[in-house]
Amino acid sequence: MALYGVIGDPIAHSMSPEMHNAAFQECGMDSAYVKFHVKKEQLSQAINGIKALGIKGVNVTVPHKEQVMQLLDEIDPLAEAIGAVNTIVNENGKLIGYNTDGLGFVEGLKNIADEQLEDKSMLIIGAGGAAKAIFYSLASLGVKRIDVSNRTALRAEKMFEACPFDLNSGFLSLEAAENTLNQYDVIIHTTSIGMFPYIEVSPLTIKELKEGCIVSDIIYNPLETALLKQAKQKGARTQNGLDMFVYQGALSFEKWTGIFPPYSIMKNTVLQQLGGQHVNR
Ligand code: ATR
Repeated sequence: MALYGVIGDPIAHSMSPEMHNAAFQECGMDSAYVKFHVKKEQLSQAINGIKALGIKGVNVTVPHKEQVMQLLDEIDPLAEAIGAVNTIVNENGKLIGYNTDGLGFVEGLKNIADEQLEDKSMLIIGAGGAAKAIFYSLASLGVKRIDVSNRTALRAEKMFEACPFDLNSGFLSLEAAENTLNQYDVIIHTTSIGMFPYIEVSPLTIKELKEGCIVSDIIYNPLETALLKQAKQKGARTQNGLDMFVYQGALSFEKWTGIFPPYSIMKNTVLQQLGGQHVNR
C-alpha cells in the first residue's frame, strides 16, 4: 500500500483525507491518505519521517507552507516564486516541493470562463499568501493584466516587485477598486472577509460590473459569501472556493501518481462533508 497525508496545525478539520481516499478508491488504487498533526517545532522531524517511512507524498497546510521549503531537496520554480509549498512528492527518497494552490484556482476558473484567460483583465482583492499563489500562477500562464487591491499598498507592491513573470499590474485602494470594478473581466477575492462566522461582511460594495464578468471568491464557508450574492444581483457569473480547494488536491494527486483523479467524485465528497459540519444555515 502507498501512503499519503497532510501535515498541519491544526489539522482535525481537514477535508483532504476523505477527498483523496474517495479518489483512490474510485481509481482502484491500493493507497491511503491520513492527517498528521505536526507542531512547528516538530516539522523537521516530520519531514525526515516522510523519507524514513517511505511516504509517497504529502500536502502541507497552515502554518508550515513557508517553513517547510528549507527542509526539502528541490523546489519547483513556481513554488519558489510564490514562496510557499503545499505539495511534497517523494521521488525515491528525494523530496520535491510544489505549489498547486494557485494552479488549482486557475483550473477552476477555466471551468467557468468560456474563452482564453490570457487576454482577460483581472483584479485580485487581497495581497496575502493566497493572493500571491493565484497572482503568480495566472501570470505564469501569460495573463497580461492583473491589478491588485488591498488594504495595505506595500504588500501589493512587494508582490509586483518579486514577480518573475512579465505583466502589467497596478495597485488600487479598496475605495478606488469600488469605482473601477466595471473595467474587469474577472474579479478574484482572496481575503477572509465574509468567511464564517462573519458572513454579512464584504471587502467592498459592488456598484457596477462589466457585462459577462466573473466574480470568484476563494471562500467556501459559506458557499455563497455576501460578495458573491451582490455580484450575482449585478449580473455576474460567480464561483466559490470549492473548485480551488478540490483542484489543488487533484493537481497534488496527479503529481504523486501521474493520474488526474476523478474530479466530480472529489468535489461531491467535500460537499457531503460540508453538509455535515457546514455552518452556512
Ligand atoms: P492568506 O495566506 O490566507 O492569504 P494572509 O497572508 O494573512 O492570509 O492575508 C490576508 C489578506 O486579507 C491580506 O490581503 C489582508 O490585507 P492586509 O495586507 O492589508 O493585511 C486581508 N485582510 C485581512 N483582514 C482584513 C480586513 N479586516 N480588512 C481588509 N483586508 C483584510
